[in-house]
Amino acid sequence: MSDDSSGRLVAVLRQWIATAPPGARLPSTRALVAEHGVSPVTVQKALRTLGAQGMVESRPGVGTFVRTVRVPRAHDHGWQTAALGAPPLRGPRLSTALRTTSNDVIALHSGYPDRELLPERLVRAAFTRAARSDAAVSRPPAAGLPELQAWFAGELGAAGPVGVAPPSPSDVIVVPGSQSGLSTAFRALVGAGRPLVVESPTYWGAILAAGQAGVQLVPVPSGPHGPDPDELARAFARSGARAFYAQPSFSNPTGAHWSPTLADAVLDVVRQHGAFLIEDDWAHDFGITADPVPIAARDDSGHVVYLRSLTKSMSPAVRIAAVIARGPARERLLAAAQAESMYVSTLLQAAAYDVVTQPGWRTHVTGLRQQLAARRDLMVRALAEHVPTASLDAVPAGGLNLWLRLPDGTDVLALARGCESAGVVVAPGDEWFPAEPTGAYVRLNYAGPDPGSFPEAARIIGETLETLEMASRRRLSD
Ligand SMILES: Cc1ncc(COP(=O)(O)O)c(C=O)c1O
Repeated sequence: MSDDSSGRLVAVLRQWIATAPPGARLPSTRALVAEHGVSPVTVQKALRTLGAQGMVESRPGVGTFVRTVRVPRAHDHGWQTAALGAPPLRGPRLSTALRTTSNDVIALHSGYPDRELLPERLVRAAFTRAARSDAAVSRPPAAGLPELQAWFAGELGAAGPVGVAPPSPSDVIVVPGSQSGLSTAFRALVGAGRPLVVESPTYWGAILAAGQAGVQLVPVPSGPHGPDPDELARAFARSGARAFYAQPSFSNPTGAHWSPTLADAVLDVVRQHGAFLIEDDWAHDFGITADPVPIAARDDSGHVVYLRSLTKSMSPAVRIAAVIARGPARERLLAAAQAESMYVSTLLQAAAYDVVTQPGWRTHVTGLRQQLAARRDLMVRALAEHVPTASLDAVPAGGLNLWLRLPDGTDVLALARGCESAGVVVAPGDEWFPAEPTGAYVRLNYAGPDPGSFPEAARIIGETLETLEMASRRRLSD
């Protein structure tokens, strides 16, 4: 053996390695001995040298392999720009309502209630039972677990007047959250390039889902009491739309709660235009001084397609909602839901069904009412004291949010930035407008963590607003 012969072998093997794919196996010691006429000790020495240089790694009893060397370099995904073309819609990458924030800030931006408002004990016990049952290893029927379908149908049917045929369990399609239900409904019932009438302002996620489905939005103004039925009729006539997406109970963001008279008038307009009302009953469990009465409960002619979610009142981890529709619309919806998600996890469906059939569920929903009332009132008082130049068009009778109108001309994004740097996160209202915002608004969630900090949050909002107003007055006088 000589250093020269191992050095020569190292040089030969480096060349071999240079053309071999990462992970390739080197010839065995015996093969290298035979091929290069060197001793086994020389081969071992050469392999140790290559190992020390990071070129090979030996796996005892298996062999020696070319190391997978990762060369650090900047990613270049620029080619995708040409492949993807311009995006169909440009908006914020992530809605403010979905942002996660650190515990140090006062978070008023989220769309979901804080954990302390959830039936945590019921949910945990339900998951434990579901995990032990067949639900953990079985596939449900595509439209949903029959018992859960029956529960959703029963709840809606119980809200209907005598003389209206209640929905049947087979009218129910279980979907993974009502966001998914909206997306499914817009694709299945409206379709790309076709018009959909929406309230303005309306839920940012509906604007997003419609945009992704290529649906053209036709906004109708909606105030603290809901839309004007005459305006709605004009929008249908003008656009030729065959669907109206709305939140009759505690709308997100305005909190509007339609009167029974308005609900009847809207249903009439929808029927006259041979259209669908896509009713998003997202806040069904969040009534405070009013109870939501779904319009779908008064319709057995298939004009109302009803969305009812459990994720906000049960747990954001139980992404379960129902779409209830009759006739061919139901078939279209089921086909679209299957294309999107095939079916919803049996485990989640079983856990959701377990929770809603516990006596504790009703206690939970009733208790929520008091908690939300106390939180809402605390925030309303704090805003009146600390943000006197802002106003609420109405104090909502339910839901999770206040829709705070700021003085005209307020730069809402600057206000949100200013508040955040002082430790309060608010949602700029612009995200809820399907067209240009018609006012300066922020949405404030009173169901978030630490309600004790609401006065402090209101003080910071008030001070930030004052600073902005002073800066704008200075600019004007300069
Ligand atoms: C009005 C409205 N509809 C639907 C959703 C979607 O809820 P989920 O997908 O959690 O059921 C939300 C969530 O913020 C909402 O505010």
